[in-house]
Amino acid sequence: MRSFDISHVPNVYKTILISGLVLSSTIIFYYVIHPKSPTNSFVVSRIEKTLSQSTFTDTPTNISHLVFGIVGSEGAWHHRKGYGEAWWQPNVTRGYLYLDIPPTVDILPWSLTSPPYRVSEDLTKLINEINPAVPILPRVLHAILEIFREEDHEGFRWLVMGDDDTIFFVDNMVDVLAKYDHTKYYYIGSPSECLNSNFRFSFNMGFGGAGFALSYPLVKAFANNVEDCLKRYSHLVTGDIIEMSCIADFGVNLSPQKGLHQIDLRGDISGLLSSHPKTPLMSLHHLDVVDPIFPNMDAINSIHHLMKAANIYQSRLLQQTICYNRKHNWSISVSWGYSVHIYEKIMPRSLLQLPIETFQPWAANPNPPFYMFNTRLPSNDQCESPHVFFFDSIEKMSDNLILTTYYRRSSRELPPCVSSSHSADYVTHIYVYSSVTKRIEINRCECCDHTYAEGAKNAVLKFRECMPDEIMA
Ligand SMILES: *[C@@H]1O[C@H](CO)[C@@H](O)[C@H](O)[C@H]1NC(C)=O
Ligand SMILES: *[C@@H]1O[C@H](CO)[C@@H](O)[C@H](O)[C@H]1NC(C)=O
Ligand SMILES: *[C@@H]1O[C@H](CO)[C@@H](O)[C@H](O)[C@H]1NC(C)=O
Repeated sequence: MRSFDISHVPNVYKTILISGLVLSSTIIFYYVIHPKSPTNSFVVSRIEKTLSQSTFTDTPTNISHLVFGIVGSEGAWHHRKGYGEAWWQPNVTRGYLYLDIPPTVDILPWSLTSPPYRVSEDLTKLINEINPAVPILPRVLHAILEIFREEDHEGFRWLVMGDDDTIFFVDNMVDVLAKYDHTKYYYIGSPSECLNSNFRFSFNMGFGGAGFALSYPLVKAFANNVEDCLKRYSHLVTGDIIEMSCIADFGVNLSPQKGLHQIDLRGDISGLLSSHPKTPLMSLHHLDVVDPIFPNMDAINSIHHLMKAANIYQSRLLQQTICYNRKHNWSISVSWGYSVHIYEKIMPRSLLQLPIETFQPWAANPNPPFYMFNTRLPSNDQCESPHVFFFDSIEKMSDNLILTTYYRRSSRELPPCVSSSHSADYVTHIYVYSSVTKRIEINRCECCDHTYAEGAKNAVLKFRECMPDEIMA
């Protein structure tokens, strides 16, 4: 905390210090200033919250109990609308997009498939009074009060806050939040995947781009005290650290939740998305900063493509399942609805679970360690470099099965792995059959059976529960 206290620093240094922070750091704060410039953040928090058994007796939480507050800007919405519309379900999802100024005529009439918008209150008087280090931050925090005033409180259990380039996976969000008692005080979020961002801001902060959820009593407390909070923390330089600080003052701390992804990374994040932990995918952020997540598609088309799987069945999305074909000496890693990797070698799960470092760190000249998780470096070894397939289509079959298909991106351009003697070069498509059973309380991975006729184009995988003592061997 002390490192952000710049109230005693002379003004000229303050400016430099703030610029430095802006360059390398977070969130809400700078996308608002530079709507087109990349912001930061995602991560896999290493501590998974062990959810206490539900003791509350209310009706189950459903989509109508979640209220979304998206803080964006008029300037950015012109090119970010496609992200918002990818996940927003008109007349089903509740909430608002807050804009800094009224929309210009070229985005009017307002699209019915976008979240409804509100223009943020004029806070000039408050800003003059508290003289914040970053004058645009009060708008971001004040949105919590504005949405609290605006919303009909009937069935309001959770407030989910995000940026205008946050993609939420709402069904999974409902499944995860439903496990918590919404009548108690909860602050649910995720640190960044960038170690240095967490070090500099906080390891206990829900990064704003990944999105975070506040239970109703906490929203109420926050809304009733937001102006005092802004006064107390007017020296802090990002919205999410102010939020964390005020929430801590109510005696509430972060419940870290894997599955919320700030994506403080650059380049090709396919390696990360291909090794997602066994937890529901709740959000993705910064998709206009990183490369498009599917080959030969732009960023917006890529997210709409992923949504084809998400809209039919979300629970398993991106979760990694590892299979072995002993007859061929292959290891197969499936990131459901996203990718399949075939290795011509038997490799242990503990290794395949490490993301391949296809991406780069967030900051331009960082010092290692970069990430909050261990990685594997991409390899040119024919036994360790995977054949890569990407999600193509999804189909609901009879008898509660879902079929997803994956196509080969390109030839691997490597000779077969000599020790294995079974090349996967012929495979062009992979068919994965999985059940519609929700994967929420996941204490163990699934296993699968793989059928492949030597030299065939198609390979088929069927997910099933692992046998009690089944191991890779
Ligand atoms: C959500 O639950 C409430 C009861 O709390 C119920 O009245 C409502 O119909 C449910 N809505 C949906 C969309 O399932
Ligand atoms: C949402 O509801 C409004 C009012 O009932 C209706 O006019 C509008 O067409 C609906 N929008 C969509 C996209 O279904
Ligand atoms: C699988 O690989 C091992 C070690 O690399 C090799 O000894 C074995 O013969 C291979 N099995 C088959 C079926 O090719």
